[in-house]
Amino acid sequence: MNTLIRNGIVVTARNTCVANVLIEGELIMEVSPRNMEHRADKIIDATGMYVMPGGIDVHTHLDMPFGGTTSADDFETGTRAAAFGGTTTIVDFAIQPRGTRMRDALDTWWKKAEEKACIDYGLHMIVTDLGACGLEDMDEMVKEGVASFKLFMAYPNVLMVDDATIFKALSRTAKNGALICMHAENGSVIDVIVARALAEGKTAPIYHALTRPTRAESEAVHRAIAMAEIAGAPVYIVHLSSEDALNEVREARDRGVPVFAETCPQYLLLSIEELERPNFEGAKYVFTPPLRTKENLPKLWDGLKDDHLQVVSTDHCPFCFEDQKILGKDDFTKIPNGGPGIENRLQLIYHHGVNAGMLSLSRFVELTSTAPARLFGMYPKKGEIFPSSDADIVIWDPKVAYTISAATHHMRVDYSMFEGFQVRGNARTVLSRGEVIMDRGVFLGAPGRGQYVKRKAHGGAWK
Ligand code: URP
Ligand code: ZN
Ligand code: ZN
Repeated sequence: MNTLIRNGIVVTARNTCVANVLIEGELIMEVSPRNMEHRADKIIDATGMYVMPGGIDVHTHLDMPFGGTTSADDFETGTRAAAFGGTTTIVDFAIQPRGTRMRDALDTWWKKAEEKACIDYGLHMIVTDLGACGLEDMDEMVKEGVASFKLFMAYPNVLMVDDATIFKALSRTAKNGALICMHAENGSVIDVIVARALAEGKTAPIYHALTRPTRAESEAVHRAIAMAEIAGAPVYIVHLSSEDALNEVREARDRGVPVFAETCPQYLLLSIEELERPNFEGAKYVFTPPLRTKENLPKLWDGLKDDHLQVVSTDHCPFCFEDQKILGKDDFTKIPNGGPGIENRLQLIYHHGVNAGMLSLSRFVELTSTAPARLFGMYPKKGEIFPSSDADIVIWDPKVAYTISAATHHMRVDYSMFEGFQVRGNARTVLSRGEVIMDRGVFLGAPGRGQYVKRKAHGGAWK
């Protein structure tokens, strides 16, 4: 079956041009201004639309046990919501419970995903314990296409690993070519500040943010980079939230160190005041790192523009307000940490980035699709509109107006962090490996059609 996307404005990280895109089966066959209608079984007219590589969200937590509960979207509802927003690939996090083998965690996450995923997915492995076999396990994971590992410098006694473990893991990736993703916050210091706050009776959601200073983030970013340099490995800082932390990344990159970092729409568009909402609604904005003061926001946008930050992901980790966030009603440390966003990333970054004149169209594609594909070993299969790439394509209507709301979104969560945000520009039609899975607000895909993406170690981005 050949599908032709006719007369759209093809936008890649390299350039923008009016062209037709011919798809044969699951792959892109030709991108050209030539008339190829005689070769097509089906024609999709894209006049006036942008034709872009499908979005790639490399930071999601679907069906994840965390904070005494489980994230509200599973692989079916989460990937379906992603498709509505123009995202065609995710990389989710499997967790190695302490004392277990990574292989078991990988099997568990494959089971969660295989009959449910509506779009393609890769997996990172959260390493909690290197134990006796951990380093060999990391090599085995790389062979299985798990080309990245997340380590936590926060959450002592739950997920945090010590510097020795971090350094050993970094040293291993210097050899096996995987990428360490670092949750960079000084968890030991934060725990002391949190204990003081609780002792003073400070239990409301706002104290989640007030007990996690930006210096706790920047110190950990600095330490992570230093350890990576000593190990001779690249490092990727996840969900970077503050100017302080960004300065550490910029300083290292200016020295030529292979450090990469992502931020997320919530850090670009929301600030600490959200946690002061009355009636416990501040809990909707409890995640780590926390929202920061307003001055940080334009610095992060500059970071995206100037390539000090390379990726925008979501850190989608939804918990319902009514029956999950409420667990922390009397103690902010018991509020499950995380927020929803998998559906709205492209809308928000397009509107506040491209429409606002902060980002070019090509930079938008690079940040939301091409750079994540490169860094995480999926390029050029994903993140590109080029012959032989997967036909993962979003046909984007740049003119349509849309209001974000929990009443209309598709994520399985009872609130939106961006409730009432008005954007211009949205996904009109979404193709995943050549199949139209969403068209004009109607989902046409199916659970289980999404495939596991075996990722390559060392995408080459730092060479
Ligand atoms: O609060 C957050 N970010 N929850 C998800 C887990 C993580 O640290 O990414
Ligand atoms: Zn994290
Ligand atoms: Zn996360």
